[in-house]
Amino acid sequence: MAVDLLLGLQWGDEGKGKIVDVLTKDYDIIARFQGGPNAGHTLEFDGIKHVLHTIPSGIFHENAINIVGNGVVIDPVIFKKELDNLKKFNLDIKSKLLISRKAHLILPTHRLLDAASEASKGKAKIGSTLKGIGPTYMDKTGRNGMRVGDLELNNWQEKYRALANKHEAMIDYYDVAIEYDLRELETDFFKAIKELKELTFIDSEEHLYQAQKANQKILAEGAQGSLLDIDFGTYPYVTSSTTTAAGACTGLGIPPNKIGDVFGIFKAYTTRVGSGPFPTELFDEVGATMGKVGNEFGATTGRPRRCGWLDLVALKYAVRINGVTKLMMMKADVLSGFDKIKVCTAYNYKGTEVTHLPYNIEAENVSPIYREMKGWSEDLTTFTQKDQLPETLNEYIDFLEKELEVPIKIVSVGPDRTQTILR
Ligand code: GDP
Ligand code: IMO
Ligand code: MG
Repeated sequence: MAVDLLLGLQWGDEGKGKIVDVLTKDYDIIARFQGGPNAGHTLEFDGIKHVLHTIPSGIFHENAINIVGNGVVIDPVIFKKELDNLKKFNLDIKSKLLISRKAHLILPTHRLLDAASEASKGKAKIGSTLKGIGPTYMDKTGRNGMRVGDLELNNWQEKYRALANKHEAMIDYYDVAIEYDLRELETDFFKAIKELKELTFIDSEEHLYQAQKANQKILAEGAQGSLLDIDFGTYPYVTSSTTTAAGACTGLGIPPNKIGDVFGIFKAYTTRVGSGPFPTELFDEVGATMGKVGNEFGATTGRPRRCGWLDLVALKYAVRINGVTKLMMMKADVLSGFDKIKVCTAYNYKGTEVTHLPYNIEAENVSPIYREMKGWSEDLTTFTQKDQLPETLNEYIDFLEKELEVPIKIVSVGPDRTQTILR
């Protein structure tokens, strides 16, 4: 049985958490393949809103096993908080949530290094979530990292100490004022590790292989978005993992020829949180309205998200590098009430019109070229059927499908599980 993937096509926060939750009823396993607690995945049902950072978004369903894959980086302290939040739901965490031994651990000093690195960059800072993501992936590729499986060894504390000592010397190197009390951070860290060790650790690639053999249905859940990918994103303003489809192969051990559908999620407009170029960003009332109506504040950091029109140049690029087979358009309800909707179909790049994503999309090189379309005024949030969608929204969807050459199979009209229209 092939493994389906679900990933964000923009700069993150497309609504991955909501859609994974909607799709989980059709799957036996939901497996996160990269990123860490920089992610904030929101799901809403029965009037309750849940935000997950590391735990896969299928956790509330009885039928599904949730796996944290080898490509994920885990902060035991944040993980413990997530588990604490779940306690009131009486889920059987020990058997429903499985953790790859090969997943790397975020140490308290990784978080401090993130802060020191950002402080040293001044205005050029990445706008990191400061969860220690960059330093942890650096230790992974530098072959210095600590993994979940190390916690089963007797000498893991020695390994921890050696790495933390090295990190302290590196923090000094940055020569920026970072106040911290490592002993206090370590108290929380060791407490959280104790709780983590009570969970089920697995060789996830083997588990997933056996599951595929037994014809189980697996959905791989991505974090962040394609434009934050370490290779294909707007480098250096990116995250430190492979957020694109290939990340599911390395982050779970799934062979490329076993990938089935690739579900690509995008908002009907665009948002970005943190620094970096954003060609269709709006600094006017329209952008402010999108942010207000869409409640565009980071699920992890609470920072306001920058907002702008849909960028088809960037979206086409993301569809292609991921091999998207089915699209899902989120937050269509947020665009209700605009007379005109704009879509960026090309860039003016240093005086020439281009329709591919150039190497450098900084504002001084690129300005968006828009196509204007008619808006719609209907409140979409109570709609449940595709034949209720207004004509002008259908025109917008038809135009996007034609340009992207991939069908839009879901239109989302609100944050709740039920506010989901199938096409
Ligand atoms: P993720 O990181 O991709 O899982 O997305 P986030 O959870 O960070 O951000 C998406 C936000 O939009 C959350 O607050 C969701 O509850 C909300 N949301 C998801 N789909 C819709 C939708 O169709 N309409 C509206 N208005 N909100 C939505
Ligand atoms: P989800 O999964 C939106 C952004 C940060 C910053 C850059 C690097 O909820 O879509 P990092 O902490 O990784 O060093 O930050 O990436 N970023 C996200 N933006 N959604 C996310 O995750 C993000 N995870 C990281 O704002 O610009
Ligand atoms: Mg998010």
